[in-house]
Amino acid sequence: MTTTAVTHIASLVTNDPSLGNGTPLGLILDAAVVIEGDRIVWTGESSKAPATDNVLDAAGRAMIPGFVDSHSHLVFAGDRTQEFNARMSGQPYTAGGIRTTVAATRQASDEELSDNVARYLAEALRQGTTTLETKSGYGLTVEDEARALRVASRHTDEVTYLGAHIVSPDYADDPAGYVDLVTGPMLEACAPHARWIDVFCERGAFDGDQARAILTAGRAKGLHPRIHANQLTYGPGVQLAVELDAASADHCTHLTDADVDALGQGNTVATLLPGAEFSTRATWPDARRLLEAGATVALSTDCNPGSSFTSSMPFCVALAVRDMGMTPDEALWSATAGGAAALRRTDIGRITPGARADLVLLDAPSHVHLAYRPGVPLVSAVWRGGERVE
Ligand code: NIG
Ligand code: FE
Repeated sequence: MTTTAVTHIASLVTNDPSLGNGTPLGLILDAAVVIEGDRIVWTGESSKAPATDNVLDAAGRAMIPGFVDSHSHLVFAGDRTQEFNARMSGQPYTAGGIRTTVAATRQASDEELSDNVARYLAEALRQGTTTLETKSGYGLTVEDEARALRVASRHTDEVTYLGAHIVSPDYADDPAGYVDLVTGPMLEACAPHARWIDVFCERGAFDGDQARAILTAGRAKGLHPRIHANQLTYGPGVQLAVELDAASADHCTHLTDADVDALGQGNTVATLLPGAEFSTRATWPDARRLLEAGATVALSTDCNPGSSFTSSMPFCVALAVRDMGMTPDEALWSATAGGAAALRRTDIGRITPGARADLVLLDAPSHVHLAYRPGVPLVSAVWRGGERVE
């Protein structure tokens, strides 16, 4: 198999603390990486790189692992510019806006939905995202949820069933009936197309008991839980996530000390979504408090047409550093290795032998520039599974 070396990397983030400078980022200066097929086979100092078939000189640029965006909602149609405008004129964000997207999504053809996913996935790839999770949740009927998952599966392996996004407008007077649908026929139709099950556990969506029933039913069908938790208000979502060993509790904006302790002690990753706070003018989650409690923190875009219409992980890194108390090192770790942890993956989010060759070369001397130079397109090359894609 052909081998390729990228040499003279000014600073390489490996996410292996046993390498380089011994920090969690395992930073190696003047580094090289060798790829064979879809895997990384060697990482180290450039002067010690083995001979390879091809050599690409990074000429003083930085390299980081491909971003792992573990939370997005890309299977949708329609537009919510008006709602955004109203918010920026002082209206609050509510889960009710989801209904607008549900109506538009039901009207769209499979091809329109698939084209939309492809478009935002390509946008994300250009900004360095090499793994992306995405969800259903804008169909809310058996057929529309199942087709959303089929469409999502064309584009990614990380697919989440979110029939419990809000109570379907068709069941406005019968929320218990909707939970029966989500845990019964809808789950039956959706489980073969998904890896994960998610619930929006929030006032105006699903309460703790409903969320537990939905996630437990999903688990019995082989789906692993994750939860939209504590976004708009304090509530039971985070503690339920830890209790059920959910892979992640996402949002984590309103946390009590007990919530923070639970995340510090459990296996559930706290996934922070700064694009949502930015686009809804909400309170910022306190990443520092979580990190100090020992929680594993991931960063993701939450890309969706309502609360966070960005596909940009670099933007989220910059926000997390500026407004959530993270250092540039912590934010970079959370956007790569943290996302991998939130998807319970060990083959991505690191640049070490055996990992998938998902690499991002930055037009900058170090990863710190992602926060230092916000809004500047610094991604200059992307490899996914060893293939140069950008
Ligand atoms: O993660 N919180 C629930 N769901 C999405 C928003 C969906 C929407 O507004 O369309 C979120 O922010
Ligand atoms: Fe979300």
